[in-house]
Amino acid sequence: MTTSSRPSTDRRPRLDASARDHLWMHFTRHSTFETGGEVPIIARGDGAYVYDVAGRRYLDGLSGLFVVQVGHGRAELARAAAAQAEKLAFFPVWSYAHPKAVELAERLASYTPGDLDRVFFTTGGGEAVESAWKLAKQYWKLVGKPYKHKVISRAVAYHGTTHGALSLTGIPELKQDYEPLVSTAVRVPNTNIYRAAEGLRNDPKAFGLWAADRIAEAIEFEGPETVAAVFLEPVQNAGGCFPPPPGYFQRVREICDAYDVLLVSDEVICAFGRIGSMFACTEFGYVPDIITCAKGMTSGYSPIGAMIASDRLFEPFRHGPTTFLHGYTFGGHPVSAAVAMANLDIFERERLNEHVTATAPAFRRTLERLLDLPIVGDVRGEGFFYGIELVKDRTTRETFTPDECEHLLRGFLSKALFEAGLYCRADDRGDPVIQLAPPLIVDQAEFDEIESILRSVLTEAWKRL
Ligand SMILES: Cc1ncc(COP(=O)(O)O)c(C=O)c1O
Repeated sequence: MTTSSRPSTDRRPRLDASARDHLWMHFTRHSTFETGGEVPIIARGDGAYVYDVAGRRYLDGLSGLFVVQVGHGRAELARAAAAQAEKLAFFPVWSYAHPKAVELAERLASYTPGDLDRVFFTTGGGEAVESAWKLAKQYWKLVGKPYKHKVISRAVAYHGTTHGALSLTGIPELKQDYEPLVSTAVRVPNTNIYRAAEGLRNDPKAFGLWAADRIAEAIEFEGPETVAAVFLEPVQNAGGCFPPPPGYFQRVREICDAYDVLLVSDEVICAFGRIGSMFACTEFGYVPDIITCAKGMTSGYSPIGAMIASDRLFEPFRHGPTTFLHGYTFGGHPVSAAVAMANLDIFERERLNEHVTATAPAFRRTLERLLDLPIVGDVRGEGFFYGIELVKDRTTRETFTPDECEHLLRGFLSKALFEAGLYCRADDRGDPVIQLAPPLIVDQAEFDEIESILRSVLTEAWKRL
């Protein structure tokens, strides 16, 4: 951890006590703070770095939460928000429009492939996923296939926390306390080639076809007349960055067309430059029926999300009293829409997608240096989005027991990485991985800094095992 020139202030103890008493942190084991752990309180950001209330500096290796694409401290985004709030702070998009929602919808549609032209705004990713599922159900009813209501998603995938999105999520530990969830969501294998069967591990194309065909199999098992949609991330985050093997999405598209099932590309993480293009489906050469997105649209300077549907899906809603009876008060919020427009201006002016495409190979090579450590089993990902899988034995790919994960990830790694000045995520939703997704402005100096901190902390972790 590096200390900035700013002196430490005495706000820390007061904020820490107050956080313990009042702030219910998300996905947080609060007992950590009951037994003496400090609440990490981040007070400001600048570029690729954030600073805590005591002035300590951390490299933001996760863009907050896969969000802050253009980096922290962009005054022009704050100005865009202020200007819009002065002019029109709020108006809903319920039967009305406001200029920024119109402009942003048109701009997003210009980035999408095919005829994905219809933008339904939400306030975040989970709501976009909910919206997509509801639209899929209603669409099939409107075109005379009323039994198509089930959805398919992949093992270990994360799609959000509301009842519908959580039902699509493939992480049993996140779901069990909230059952019964929606029972019409079905799981298929993901594209984790590192854990594929022996015969498929060294043949990505065959593995991709195998994984895609599991979707066809699930549709057959459920009955094609009952399946509405398949939800897939271009690169699956949970489990530690599973890119699609070559041919995977092409086969999935064929399957969806053959069975009349909608393909939803959940790009809540992958859109807006994370993989090097505005929408990652274009990167992998497929055209979905719906895209869900959020996070990077504003780089987090104000919340917004969207479900973007094809003209075909909108068609039945053009006629008579037919209405998508769905909405969110803050969906398409004027301030967020204005910030999104300014954020996308930065993308274009600074050619951030081109930067990601050009430097991603160097990022990968830098992280792959870690493969000389006995604890590093695999480095995988695309663009500025990587997972590093940790193993007990590189040869056999043996993973850690739940107790070892607890001791390694929660007991040591997360805290040690943070203390060493790197904010990222040590995750065990699936096999244990370190997740990295820095702001899209970073370059070799930050790649090296990430590698160097990981090297020292992982070396120490191995000694402690
Ligand atoms: C792929 C994916 N879908 C949906 C969501 C849910 O988004 P939100 O937290 O904005 O509701 C996330 C969140 O990380 C995500 O990664």
